[in-house]
Amino acid sequence: MKPTVTRRTFIRGTGAALAGLAITPRVGLSAADLTRKPDKLALLGGTPVRSQPYSSTWPIIDKAEEDALLTALKSRNWCCLRGHCVYDFEKTFAAAMGAGRAVLSNGGTTALGASLACLGVGAGDEVITTPNTFIATINVITNLHALPVYVDIDPDTGSIDAELIEEAITENTRAILPVHLAGFPVDIEKIMSIANQHRIPVVEDACQSVFAEVGGKKVGTFGATGCISFQEWKSLVSGEGGAILCSDDELGRRCASFVNNGRDAKGEIGGYPFPGSNHRMTEFQAAILTAQYEKFLRHDAARQKHGRYLEETLGKITGFSPRKRYNPNTRFTYVQFEMDYDPEAFKDVPAATFAKALRAEGIPFNGGPRIYRGGCHKEGMLEEHLNSRGFVKAFGKARLKAYRESLKKLQVMDGLVPAKKQFLSMDSKIPLLGSDRETEDIVTAFAKVVANLDALRSA
Ligand SMILES: Cc1ncc(COP(=O)(O)O)c(C=O)c1O
Repeated sequence: MKPTVTRRTFIRGTGAALAGLAITPRVGLSAADLTRKPDKLALLGGTPVRSQPYSSTWPIIDKAEEDALLTALKSRNWCCLRGHCVYDFEKTFAAAMGAGRAVLSNGGTTALGASLACLGVGAGDEVITTPNTFIATINVITNLHALPVYVDIDPDTGSIDAELIEEAITENTRAILPVHLAGFPVDIEKIMSIANQHRIPVVEDACQSVFAEVGGKKVGTFGATGCISFQEWKSLVSGEGGAILCSDDELGRRCASFVNNGRDAKGEIGGYPFPGSNHRMTEFQAAILTAQYEKFLRHDAARQKHGRYLEETLGKITGFSPRKRYNPNTRFTYVQFEMDYDPEAFKDVPAATFAKALRAEGIPFNGGPRIYRGGCHKEGMLEEHLNSRGFVKAFGKARLKAYRESLKKLQVMDGLVPAKKQFLSMDSKIPLLGSDRETEDIVTAFAKVVANLDALRSA
């Protein structure tokens, strides 16, 4: 998209304020534009940048999903063991991801659980992970009677701090489970190098990050396995659903067998030779997924175009910066577009207040520190597990006491180190899927709020 600025879209009078904030005025701004009084914030009674709601509702569907569902219904093969939708999509997805194999399951959670189980994680083991994630990442560890060993987060990104992983490794560590949140990859290259050195398998939780890449390689394909979620709020969806990506033939066989009650996926051994459960995806889910995949490819392209444009354009304003990339050749997916926000550059207006003003302009953003709820280490489920007979038997009381103490050492996660940066995060998948003009509305709203910081502060 060409970074053009029209009178309507850019600022109408915010130029002077932006010049003070070191934005480079862009093409099309006239002297009059730069001196006109800023428009009043919608939060304070002014006219919003967008008064119309976005035209699409997530998930986006059309006749393709209807036809796919009806075809699956009429086939009378609703279970994947007799149908073809699940197994066909496994091939499509593995090829798209550059993985040796994709095993579909009924969710990202079960994909993660199957991965850990097939790597032999069990009672008394430790799995190194992050406290800053959705609880599913942790449930799959504790449900195997293993301990989630939490490593603190990088204050710049909220991702697991790879520098701290090595010191968390013990003789009981059986896996490392990093999480690529919201389409933003962790420092996976560093994590793989530590894991390889210690010969510990990595299971990547890429549930929120399908099509994110590092160095030209998709996240989810670095570790022994990588897991993707197709749950409704992700970017490629089938209501519920998941995938295990795997390139080792034997591990792939185990995972495919695990989700199918332990039947040998290779068909060489009869009966139920392997551990497992029923985590199969239905043909209905796979039919929707296949139809959605076409849309996802278009959506992904739109998010790249508009996300990069926003990153570049808003990044010209001092105080906004793109999220840190651990490798310069990193592809974010912008499923949840985000900018770093330095309150000092914005007259100490907190990110949450800035986001509130954006929302009033019709632009859905949230703001605050980069923390997922209060952190999984604080959730009640953990104490329940630690107090259970299984955990006490597997770890012993002394080890569990030491473990509880270790939970107090997450300085960054618990906000014990003051966070300089905050972030602004788009609270919808829809805005970046619209027209170029709609993306310009976002720029306009940001610029309008920047131009009204004094009014916002005293509101
Ligand atoms: C980081 C993360 N891990 C795992 C999951 C679990 O995926 P699912 O809901 O498909 O079971 C999710 C889903 O929200 C997630 O966000």
